Amino acid sequence: MARVRSADYDIVIGEDCPRALRLFLDKHKFSGVFIICDENTIAKCLPQLIIKCPQLSGSEVIELESGENSKSIQVCEQVWQTLLEANAGKDTLIVNLGGGVVSDTGGFCASVYKRGVPFINIPTTLLAMADASVGGKTGINCFSVKNSVGTITQPAGVFIDPAFLKTLPVRHYLNGLAEIYKMALISNMSFWKKLSGTKKLKIGELILKSVKLKNEIVVRDPLDKGIRKILNFGHTTGHAIESASLEAGGDILHGEAVVAGMMIESHLSMQKKLISRKTLDQIIKVLKGKFGLIPLPQPEQMLRYLKNDKKIRSQQYLLPLINGTGSCKIDVPVSEEQIMTSILFIKELSS
Ligand SMILES: NC(=O)c1ccc[n+]([C@@H]2O[C@H](COP(=O)([O-])OP(=O)(O)OC[C@H]3O[C@@H](n4cnc5c(N)ncnc54)[C@H](O)[C@@H]3O)[C@@H](O)[C@H]2O)c1
Repeated sequence: MARVRSADYDIVIGEDCPRALRLFLDKHKFSGVFIICDENTIAKCLPQLIIKCPQLSGSEVIELESGENSKSIQVCEQVWQTLLEANAGKDTLIVNLGGGVVSDTGGFCASVYKRGVPFINIPTTLLAMADASVGGKTGINCFSVKNSVGTITQPAGVFIDPAFLKTLPVRHYLNGLAEIYKMALISNMSFWKKLSGTKKLKIGELILKSVKLKNEIVVRDPLDKGIRKILNFGHTTGHAIESASLEAGGDILHGEAVVAGMMIESHLSMQKKLISRKTLDQIIKVLKGKFGLIPLPQPEQMLRYLKNDKKIRSQQYLLPLINGTGSCKIDVPVSEEQIMTSILFIKELSS
């Protein structure tokens, strides 16, 4: 088992999670516990959790519909209604048992309900274990714009038990790996080299490495004012792809969009002379080999969403771009034209 200390909570990883969770619940004596799940985590994860942690057996379960569409204000209203009808007070605990959709939505609901009640994340997808459950970003999508409303509120604890991954479909497994590759590419050259190699790596180690790297960055910059922005590498264009897909009723996953976004933004890094053509080719080879490439929406459609992005200032987009494998620079100004060139370059590869 590993325990990673964040600003004021612990991230517990490994087989000792249930014991750590039981101790956490004994220590805090919450007046009520609400477990937020979706239909898949209710069926596949909740029974295991209750067996391992019987204190949770009397908790009220709030079920969201699985999928990105649950990150909406309407779903939050239903969660708040349930909490209000149960007279849930400030000493209520929200348990987010699920992937990034559950932790983003449940975390957001908890962070503003009665001006904030504690919540913990028990991630059940690889993406949520390696990334979304850590760092305190909560949020929902508004008018198809990804994560346009949210808070930065740290959880009271994160309990990562890789045993939950046994039932995760392969597509969602790869989706989570995408964020692990991103973490390596922006912050750790030797980790990137390992991932680029042929040796099979243990998933527990990948999760631990990714969580440690993310946590170090978040602890230095919890409010996303400086260094934390490197975590957004691949996400500006990735979110535009996801938003366009959401609007069209498509089912592109977050990690799939981020892989395409990383390729586009690596090409931008080359345009800005931060990496060489050789490095770009190596990155694309590794990412394409591992994840393939999804068909991209029309560049004009992506541009509409890019304009909505939080990172635009005086007609220039300020993006985190890599300046080597394992290194990233924040707030690099790029023009709309440069973004279009990179989108078209990657679109060409995917057609
Ligand atoms: N807050 C952050 O820092 C952060 C970081 C990265 C991504 N995100 C967000 O995370 C979301 C994506 O999260 P995700 O990829 O985990 O998707 P998800 O929550 O939609 O889960 C993926 C699918 O797997 C199912 N599932 C979950 N656990 C399972 C299990 N153990 N066995 C079988 N099925 C299981 C779910 O029901 C769902 O159908 C996006 O909305 C993204 O914006 C947030």
